[in-house]
Amino acid sequence: MNIAVLGTGMVGRVIAARLAELGHHVTIGTRDPETTRARTEPDGMGNPPYSEWESGHADIGLGTFADAAASAEIVFNATSGAVSLQVLGLAGEANLDGKILVDIANPLDYSSMPPTLLVVNTDSLGEQIQRTFPGVRVVKALNTLNANLMVHPDLLPEATSVFVCGDDADAKATVTGLLASFGHTDVIDLGDITNARGPEMLLPIWVRIWGALGTPMFNFKIVR
Ligand SMILES: NC(=O)c1ccc[n+]([C@@H]2O[C@H](COP(=O)([O-])OP(=O)(O)OC[C@H]3O[C@@H](n4cnc5c(N)ncnc54)[C@H](OP(=O)(O)O)[C@@H]3O)[C@@H](O)[C@H]2O)c1
Repeated sequence: MNIAVLGTGMVGRVIAARLAELGHHVTIGTRDPETTRARTEPDGMGNPPYSEWESGHADIGLGTFADAAASAEIVFNATSGAVSLQVLGLAGEANLDGKILVDIANPLDYSSMPPTLLVVNTDSLGEQIQRTFPGVRVVKALNTLNANLMVHPDLLPEATSVFVCGDDADAKATVTGLLASFGHTDVIDLGDITNARGPEMLLPIWVRIWGALGTPMFNFKIVR
């Protein structure tokens, strides 16, 4: 499939690389490809500059958010939750219309640590995206685990759980298939997009478990 991954950070890179490895045609979206390629310093999380990463992933394209979305059948949102609505606006409503949008973003406010949620309890980023872009088929997924585990859950010694939710059953089935291709064996469908509140509100406990364990290489496992 033709897939756009909006976001040049760690999550965008990891998702794009795995999708390409699985045979998809992938384009990463950014504000300005030239500016992104011109960066020479590691980002705030210590990830190498994009150009260095790109040299090892020649099969993955880089375009503006709009160019990437225009050519895609499925779009991943791997941008900072605080700017995701802005990014999707740059991608362009017409370029997103009717497409599946896999929303991985977390609406985190880093102005105090540990981060807090910018939207909570009676709303969620997933719902905000669905309301702002009613023609898009939003599926909230993968926001509850580290990027490397999103695409290689087998890095953990036992099977763990991930969640999907969204209003469009076919979109959820397609995303569940992609998650299965990544190696996920327990994908729990939480229901419509209002249920994005649940996985987004897992973040406060996720960051505290990270602090307590000193590693992000863990995941939730729902034992029935
Ligand atoms: N790190 C993890 O393991 C993990 C796990 C679960 C969920 N998540 C979520 O995944 C998302 C991506 O995380 P990340 O760490 O890979 O990347 P990030 O640093 O949160 O976001 C990077 C992207 O945001 C864009 N961006 C930043 N400021 C912008 C602005 N003012 N206007 C437009 N675009 C802007 C950047 O655009 P440019 O390319 O133009 O610079 C870049 O593409 C986040 O929502 C995060 O909470 C992360």
